[in-house]
Amino acid sequence: MKFKAIAIDGPAGAGKSTVAKILSKKIGFTYIDSGALFRAITLKILKLGIDVNDVDNIIKHAKNAKVDFIENSIYLDGIDVSKEIRDDIVNKTVSYIAMIPEIREIIANIQREIAKTKNVVVDGRDIGTTVFPDAFAKFFLTASVDERARRRYNQYLDKTKYSLEDIKNQIIHRDYIDSNRESSPLKQADDAILIDTTNRSIDEVIEEILYHIFIKGGI
Ligand code: CDP
Repeated sequence: MKFKAIAIDGPAGAGKSTVAKILSKKIGFTYIDSGALFRAITLKILKLGIDVNDVDNIIKHAKNAKVDFIENSIYLDGIDVSKEIRDDIVNKTVSYIAMIPEIREIIANIQREIAKTKNVVVDGRDIGTTVFPDAFAKFFLTASVDERARRRYNQYLDKTKYSLEDIKNQIIHRDYIDSNRESSPLKQADDAILIDTTNRSIDEVIEEILYHIFIKGGI
């Protein structure tokens, strides 16, 4: 690889996106939120009213979808969908769309295209194992399920809709599907550095990542 990729994988709520965003700014790399790509495709399928089992149709529309990151926003077919991709219905559907190997391939290729022209920090589930197996550095972030549920719950502005227990169950369900699918499941790469973020601040996690990058010879 001509440019460097830093992979940050892990389950929902482990702190990947927060850490990846700050880290990318600190080291001057471009941040790629791979989950946002899966979410944007899922949103398109939902808007078109396509059934999650209608795989051929899903693939056809995913191939035609135009997804772009501009500044910190994500655009689907020319429209900013940064907010909509976080809707509940997307949370509940995305892991089913992400099971489809052809969809994974389309999204992996979008990421590889971006990484051909710049240094990137990428967060997701399969970055270190499948998308960038030759990444310069790989990290796997985890935290206890209770802590991850608490973090997600605290992000919700409307706390009347779901209880902490509901959020915990949703996370457990999504992690289960992500970890047990056949095509590039959520898994720590053999050469990834494991960081448990349960009792650690974002700054501490970033410090640890920067330390490992330094050990590897810096960027
Ligand atoms: O932010 P959060 O951890 O809740 O999720 P996300 O990173 O936005 O990813 C949403 C979903 O997309 C995950 O639960 C996976 O089903 C899928 N995904 C994936 O399969 N592979 C990736 N590299 C990134 C996301």
